[in-house]
This record gives sequence, C-alpha cells and structure tokens, in this order.
Amino acid sequence: MQLKIAVLAGDGIGPEVTEQAVRVLKAVADAFDHQVCLEPKLIGGAALAATNDPLPDDTLRACLSSSAVLLGAVGSPAYDSNPGHLRPEAGLLRIRRELGAYANLRPAVFFPALEDSSPLRAEVVRGTDIMIVRELLGGAYFGQPRSMGGQPGARVAINTMRYTEPEVERIARVAFDLAMKRKRKVLSVDKANVLECSRLWRDVVTRMGRGYPDVKLGHQYVDSAAMLLVQRPTDFDVVLTENMFGDILSDQAGGVVGSLGLLASASIGGRVGLYEPVHGSAPDIAGKALANPLGAILTVALLLRHSFHLETEAACVERAVSVVLSQGARTADLAGKGQAAISTAEMGNRVVETVRASQRAQASA
Ligand code: IPM
Ligand code: MG
Repeated sequence: MQLKIAVLAGDGIGPEVTEQAVRVLKAVADAFDHQVCLEPKLIGGAALAATNDPLPDDTLRACLSSSAVLLGAVGSPAYDSNPGHLRPEAGLLRIRRELGAYANLRPAVFFPALEDSSPLRAEVVRGTDIMIVRELLGGAYFGQPRSMGGQPGARVAINTMRYTEPEVERIARVAFDLAMKRKRKVLSVDKANVLECSRLWRDVVTRMGRGYPDVKLGHQYVDSAAMLLVQRPTDFDVVLTENMFGDILSDQAGGVVGSLGLLASASIGGRVGLYEPVHGSAPDIAGKALANPLGAILTVALLLRHSFHLETEAACVERAVSVVLSQGARTADLAGKGQAAISTAEMGNRVVETVRASQRAQASA
C-alpha cells in the first residue's frame, strides 16, 4: 500500500518525537511491504517564524492532498503576547476545522510494566483501558462571539460555548460505535446542572443511546467524573465529552496511566485524519533529548488503524511499545527512583529494533 502522509512536526518537542515516530512508521512499512511518501510542512510557531501565518496555505494544501496527517505539537511561549489569530494554537485549531476532524479519540491504556510510574497504587490503576471521545470542533474553542476589549482595569473577555444537535449526534455515534467493539459502556460527561449546552448534550446522547440497547450508558457531571477517574479508573470504558472537558480529562488520564507522554490521539470524521500525541510542545524540555516519543509512536499506530485500516501493522507498533516498556526502557518522565532514563532517540531505537525483530520472527516462522 502507498502511505501518503503530511508530517507537521511543529514546535517544542514536536520535531524530536515526530522524528522517532517517523522512524517507527518507516520500520513497520518496511516490515509489511508498504511504501511511505512523506511531505514535511510547517505549522504553529515554526510556521509563524517562517511565514507569519500559523497555518500556511501550502501546509493546508499538502494535508488535504494526503491520506493522513501526522502532527507533533504546537505552541511556543515566544508568541504568548500575540493576538489570538497569530498564536501557534490558531494553526492547530484551523487545521482541525479545515480537515473536518470532529472526533478526537484519546485512548489511555495502562501498561502493566509501568506500575511504578503511575501515582496511583497498582491495584487501583491495573487494568485501566479508557477511550476518551472528545468532540473537537465545537464548544468554547470555536463558538462565536468571542472577544477581549475595554480599558485596562475594566477589560471584558467573552467566549461562547455552543453546540448544535447534529454536532452532538455525530460525536455520540462515534462513541457508541466504538463502545460496541469494546466493553459496551459509554459514560457521557457534561455539566448539565449548570450549562444549557450540557443539557442539550445529555438529551441528544440519551436519545442516541436508545439506538444502542446493548451499550450501558451513564451520565456524569465533569467535576465528579474527574474525581472518579483517579478513584476508580478501571470503571471507565468509553468517555464521551465536549471539547474542553475532553481536553482537561485527557491530560488527567495521562497522569493516571503514568505519563502524559504516553498518550496518542486520532482526530477523525473528516476528509483526512489528523494524528497527534496529546502532550503538546513542552517548551521547558525541548531540545534536551528528554521527551518521551511513545505518545507520538503510538499515534502512528492510530494512523495505521484509522486512516489505512492496517490493523496488524497498528498492533505491531503497540506490541513493540509494550515490549520495550516491559524490558525496562524508560524516558525521564517514566523513570522511577533508581531507574536509569534513556533519551528520546534511544527509546525510538528500541521500538524500531523491536518492530524489526518481530518481523524477522514472523518471516522465519
Ligand atoms: C490538546 C492541546 C490543544 C487543545 C491546544 C494546544 C490548542 O491542549 O490537543 O489537547 O486544547 O486542544
Ligand atoms: Mg490538551
């Protein structure tokens, strides 16, 4: 198969982790006889520096003519005082919108080898396997009006949380369909005791749930869901939630399973799938070889699965990650007391080697 992929490494640790992810992608393509055709393009702060536009036309065109987009991270403190449309994040929000990627899947899976990395006791976190389904194109991130104005000392800022029924319906369908292939549980997270958007959300999700009699549907307020996520993470299967709640809960889920650096995501539902690790640009550790590339590497697995339906290849990457962790490979974010940490590139090497070794074992079997 021909895998035509736009690669937007972006800012901070984005380029470092993407480099390792691409190496793993090439290794798995090689092992399974696929051809990879990569188109590297600029986004975020890197694009602002070069073109004064966080999403240049040329990047957007390359994404739209690819079969998938692999993204590193976007965000840089250098642009903190820029107006909204000239911030790196504006490029990310726009690419999500232009691609129509409304369904953001954020799996948070606990690897048994990481019992010492989670802040939770092993018996609490063991068995955690959560799929957060985050609505990605609505809510306060995109609602109009939005503004900041007024005189210093008396300024007013406005954001609008907005959802339409069709927007809730389409994301709910994704969550229910995923639940059918998992443990058949959906927890819809909202703030229906306060927000109209959430009351609409709950109505629509409840109605959609009737079409899935085999799926056990629950509703939880977001504050309470945040507590339950650390108290009983193994109770969760599919979590269905709006844009900002999903942003917050997915970072928390990263902490629960040991490190945000492990989390991958797929943004699907539109013309072209967009794949990015959940962690962001982490400017404080950029360029120091400290970043964990496993989130980006697991993102490659999601890309293979969702954009190319290459399940065996995706599982091969996921298994390789599990293997290197069980062999004790730890980047700084995962290393416990007395454990040696390896660099970003060394972690990449280990995964690449494991993918190759599993291929050799297959070939000789
Ligand atoms: C994420 C990030 C982004 C978001 C930022 C960088 C705009 O935090 O993907 O979770 O809020 O969606
Ligand atoms: Mg986030």
